[in-house]
Amino acid sequence: SNKWRMSVLCFLHSCTQTSLHFKQMFVFPLTAFYSWESNFTIEPPAVSLRLSGEKDDVIEIASTDGYLYLNGSLDRENKAIHRLQVEALNVMGEKVKGPYSITINVQDINDNPPKFEKSKYYGAVWQNSHPGKPFLRVHATDRDDPTTPNAKLSYNILHHFPNPFKSMLFQIDNVTGAISTSELGSRLLNPQKQATFILVVTVKDLAGMSENALTSNIDVEITVKENIWKAPPKVSIKENSTEPHPISITQVQWNEPDAKYDLLQREWLPRFPFTIDQNGTIYVTEPLDREEKELYSFFATAKDNEGEELGRPLLILVQVEDINDNPPVCQNALTIFEVQENEGLGSNIGTLHATDMDKKNTLNSRLQFRIVDQNPKIPLDSLFIIQQEAGTFQLSSSSLNKQVASTYSVTVEVTDKGQYKHCSTEYGNCTILEDTPEGEVILEIQATDADEPFTGSSQIIYQIEEGDQNKNFIIETDPQTNRGFVKISKALDFEMSSTYNLTVKAINPEPLVKGVQYNSSSTAYFRVVVVDANEGPVFSKNTYIADIFEDVPVGTLVMTVTANDPEGDQIRYTLKNNKRNWLEIDTVSGKIYTAAPLDREVEHDYRVQVTATEENKKSQSSTAIFMIHIKDVNDNPPRLAKGNHLFFCHPLRGGVKAEIQATDDDEQLYPPEFTFSLGGSENIKSDWEISRTDGTHAYLSPKHTNLEEKQYSIPLIINDNGKPPLEGALNLQVNVCRCSDEGRCFIEVENHSGMPSTGMAVGLLLGVLLFIGVGITD
Ligand SMILES: *[C@@H]1O[C@H](CO)[C@@H](O)[C@H](O)[C@H]1NC(C)=O
Ligand SMILES: *[C@@H]1O[C@H](CO)[C@@H](O)[C@H](O)[C@H]1NC(C)=O
Ligand SMILES: *[C@@H]1O[C@H](CO)[C@@H](O)[C@H](O)[C@H]1NC(C)=O
Ligand SMILES: *[C@@H]1O[C@H](CO)[C@@H](O)[C@H](O)[C@H]1NC(C)=O
Ligand SMILES: *[C@@H]1O[C@H](CO)[C@@H](O)[C@H](O)[C@H]1NC(C)=O
Ligand SMILES: *[C@@H]1O[C@H](CO)[C@@H](O)[C@H](O)[C@H]1NC(C)=O
Repeated sequence: SNKWRMSVLCFLHSCTQTSLHFKQMFVFPLTAFYSWESNFTIEPPAVSLRLSGEKDDVIEIASTDGYLYLNGSLDRENKAIHRLQVEALNVMGEKVKGPYSITINVQDINDNPPKFEKSKYYGAVWQNSHPGKPFLRVHATDRDDPTTPNAKLSYNILHHFPNPFKSMLFQIDNVTGAISTSELGSRLLNPQKQATFILVVTVKDLAGMSENALTSNIDVEITVKENIWKAPPKVSIKENSTEPHPISITQVQWNEPDAKYDLLQREWLPRFPFTIDQNGTIYVTEPLDREEKELYSFFATAKDNEGEELGRPLLILVQVEDINDNPPVCQNALTIFEVQENEGLGSNIGTLHATDMDKKNTLNSRLQFRIVDQNPKIPLDSLFIIQQEAGTFQLSSSSLNKQVASTYSVTVEVTDKGQYKHCSTEYGNCTILEDTPEGEVILEIQATDADEPFTGSSQIIYQIEEGDQNKNFIIETDPQTNRGFVKISKALDFEMSSTYNLTVKAINPEPLVKGVQYNSSSTAYFRVVVVDANEGPVFSKNTYIADIFEDVPVGTLVMTVTANDPEGDQIRYTLKNNKRNWLEIDTVSGKIYTAAPLDREVEHDYRVQVTATEENKKSQSSTAIFMIHIKDVNDNPPRLAKGNHLFFCHPLRGGVKAEIQATDDDEQLYPPEFTFSLGGSENIKSDWEISRTDGTHAYLSPKHTNLEEKQYSIPLIINDNGKPPLEGALNLQVNVCRCSDEGRCFIEVENHSGMPSTGMAVGLLLGVLLFIGVGITD
């Protein structure tokens, strides 16, 4: 049996236990004499107690009544555990029991303030560095028990000098003491404006959660360094470059070496034609086509070795410039103008038409006309003027005379500031009757020679080079004037050949001196068209045009064409080049009907040829053009012109909207008036709304901000105002996505390390607790 009893607890616990713990609360400071309420009882033969061990002159025992007491204060930071022994002594002072061990654990009180490791901190930060990326750490220590809140430190920026904005430019991780720029600082720090800042950083113990926490302050001096990580100016590159690729176009550079550069697409492209190397040089990898895409925009990023972004992604803009890679095109290889004899100076003869595929309204597609050659050069070398910008021909004199020359061939150069094209006007057709007698002059031609007149070297002989296999023509030259007279040398036969395309060359009888060659200036072309002597039927018009709605029923009468035969013969009508078989003709009456449904969206103007043939002499026929101009009816539903792919940045902010635009394949005679509405379930309508801005545009906007980050498919209905109105139904693809700083759907980028959260459960501790565990071993 154990005679040693501890009051309070020993009454409650069996004393056979090997150790006992009890707690007692004391109030600080423990300077005065103080005894535990518990005591050791003394039973004979023991008469007194003796305490030994780590008493530190403070812990004592009342040898007669057995109370342990403190005479002075304990300091956990000096000694956290005191191991003591108690022995029971008899009157002789001899040990009769024990020793029993007592362990006193000194519980911490918050009696040490935190202390910074340095007296002042210095740091430097790059302008525009990534918010939250630490550039400096402050560190403080606290001597109190690290397992208790007494040594849990929390850092905070108390002041910030100067502080030009409402929010701070810097932030501190309250647990680690890591200092970084805030979102605002990342954007606004600028060494040109303010290069140094003093932060007053405070550290508090008790996790900064108590008013009773002990604190220390420190100054942190920060220097802001100018950022060279800046978006380069917009790059312009010429389209369709023939240089070997890749071609370097611009460069980005992080403030320190060893950054890892990368490009980040900002918009979806089937092929992304740019790369970046590890020096930050950006290349275009293939020739670009302005007509395909005029402006590219993407981001350049710089990361450290851990893949953490060093700075904000830079926006790179690449503008593709038009080059003059399309030559002008003459609308007709040969343009023929007819001029009346004796027309006055300045008379407008006609306009030469040419086009250019390069960018409209740039110099690359500016066309300029210039006459480079005129044949024959009689009576003057420059009978015509062409308006340089418009291509309009005018007479430069009033001296045109059919006797002098009946046709002129003029070569016009069309330039677009770099490329040029020669367009020709020519000796016109020469139309003669099949029965024109042999020997008759059908055309006069003229070539000139700068050599001495009337010598072998200035005399001209005309030869028909091509187009006269049967030798039907001959050209005689007047030696005085060098004029050539084209005559018929052999009777023509319309049935054998109805046209002759003749190439005539003017040569000197004597060989040209060495080095001089005949060139295209000494060649002329003309066509002889032979007309059948018998007269065929004649149409009332050369061209018939009818207007018709595209939705007329098959079999609708479109028009009646009529031809008359001078001899009064019966006429039969047929259609030719009826490519789509949209029309048919009554062979006797000449009535033309629709033979199939028409579609304006396939062809606006449908053109066929009508032939009238004499019933009794099938070779006697003539042809006219018949054209229907197909008029629009509203038979196409509206569709989207813009807004097929929309996105909103997640998390959503209020008031965001995305524009859509509608269009319609039908002819738009008056301003189109589309109306927009949402289809689908009530859910769709409770999440989204559509608001029309004008006849063709509307905005889609989320109705609230708690939409998930995902792809939405939103049924949209567009109605037009045609007669009858049509409705188009489609699905808008809407992406609610995470966005870049620039507010674009961002491809997932690795998250930079956030601030570790303390996650610490902190109890509220008021006053001072002192726990003493007493272990008694038998
Ligand atoms: C307490 O300690 C002081 C000196 O430290 C001593 O003079 C005094 O006698 C002690 N009191 C008791 C009750 O032991
Ligand atoms: C420390 O920072 C965390 C995370 O920013 C915050 O939740 C907590 O309230 C801060 N603690 C104090 C004492 O400011
Ligand atoms: C690119 O240039 C070549 C000639 O250099 C030209 O043939 C081609 O049509 C051009 N392509 C485009 C898309 O302009
Ligand atoms: C980067 O620059 C250095 C020095 O100018 C050069 O030697 C190296 O080849 C460059 N690297 C690349 C990938 O262009
Ligand atoms: C002459 O040229 C015209 C137009 O190029 C062509 O239609 C016709 O068939 C040609 N005639 C001969 C006989 O080559
Ligand atoms: C033809 O040759 C003459 C004399 O050599 C020259 O004046 C003329 O410009 C040339 N014409 C063409 C089209 O080359």
